Amino acid sequence: MRILSGIQPSGKLHIGNYFGMMKPMIENMDKGELYAFVVNFHAMTSVSDAKDLQQGTLEAAADFLALGLDPDRCIFWVQSDVPEVTELMWILSSLTPMGLLERCHSYKDKTAKGIAASHGLFSYPVLMAADILLFQAEVVPVGKDQKQHLEVARDIAIKFNNSFGETFVLPEPQISKDLATVPGVDGQKMSKSYGNTIGIFLEEKQLKKSVMAIVTDAAAVEAVKDPDACNLYNIFKLFAPAERTAEIRDLYENGGAAYGYIKLELVDILWEYFRKARERRAELMANPGYLHEVLAAGALKAREKAAVTLDLVRERVGLKY
Ligand code: ADP
Ligand code: TRP
Repeated sequence: MRILSGIQPSGKLHIGNYFGMMKPMIENMDKGELYAFVVNFHAMTSVSDAKDLQQGTLEAAADFLALGLDPDRCIFWVQSDVPEVTELMWILSSLTPMGLLERCHSYKDKTAKGIAASHGLFSYPVLMAADILLFQAEVVPVGKDQKQHLEVARDIAIKFNNSFGETFVLPEPQISKDLATVPGVDGQKMSKSYGNTIGIFLEEKQLKKSVMAIVTDAAAVEAVKDPDACNLYNIFKLFAPAERTAEIRDLYENGGAAYGYIKLELVDILWEYFRKARERRAELMANPGYLHEVLAAGALKAREKAAVTLDLVRERVGLKY
């Protein structure tokens, strides 16, 4: 089985990214052939500062490795190091109906939030389809917000196969049922663009600030509360051991849940949860030479795979003459 997913280097990694995509990818490492990459071409739709993009790319790569991705057990690269993807994107663009892209929520959401309505942003799903189809990925672990992009990739693959003969495998999204959408501190979906994230690799002080900002109701400590409707509880249960979650649940249901104390406990739990990864990440960021080496080796392997698909595609569409 070929499993593939990518992450944009467009901001600090948060716990929504972790549960939606990084953790499932890392857990998938031995379940098949794993393809993991940093999608810096995609990030150009929202990052316009060259230094930010460059630094973000190295950080995203370090995030992946620090959290446990083993580059010897997968193919790990930066999107722009495999330029074959842009050629495939053009070929796919030529058969992608405008209506398919016009229906995409992500484009509408992003422009509504102030991201410039560029052609790149509009055609973002075609590049994502090219990412997936170039490697004949069968399974794509993502958060729920990416489901529609997977449908677009499938639609494009079907259209191509119907027009030019069976070429692409149809990819399936892998969306974890319980963790499809991790809530942000305000209860909406956690997202960099909503400013409601809890970062994984924050300084302790900043981590505390983010956790303290989790919005709760004004109910008294002794009041009976519904844990499932509480944002704090929903984040707490993702990290706390099962017995501790059960105790806290009991306090909500029988009175005695003090939000301030639960938040402080959550800060400690998060700090410990990511301790090893944080240390490993600091080591990696101090050694960019190693990161470059790993990524260059990954790009070579990825290009070999990409060439096989692209060769076939070129032949199918008549680019070989
Ligand atoms: P953001 O919304 O913060 O910009 P990205 O679009 O970069 O995040 O998402 C990277 C990956 O993390 C995607 O697979 C996405 O589905 C997943 N993801 C992002 N936010 C969440 C969330 N709140 N819950 C679950 N998965 C998420
Ligand atoms: N669009 C994805 C996101 O914002 C990132 C992405 C680009 C991706 N190409 C991909 C994810 C291919 C999975 C497979 O999170």
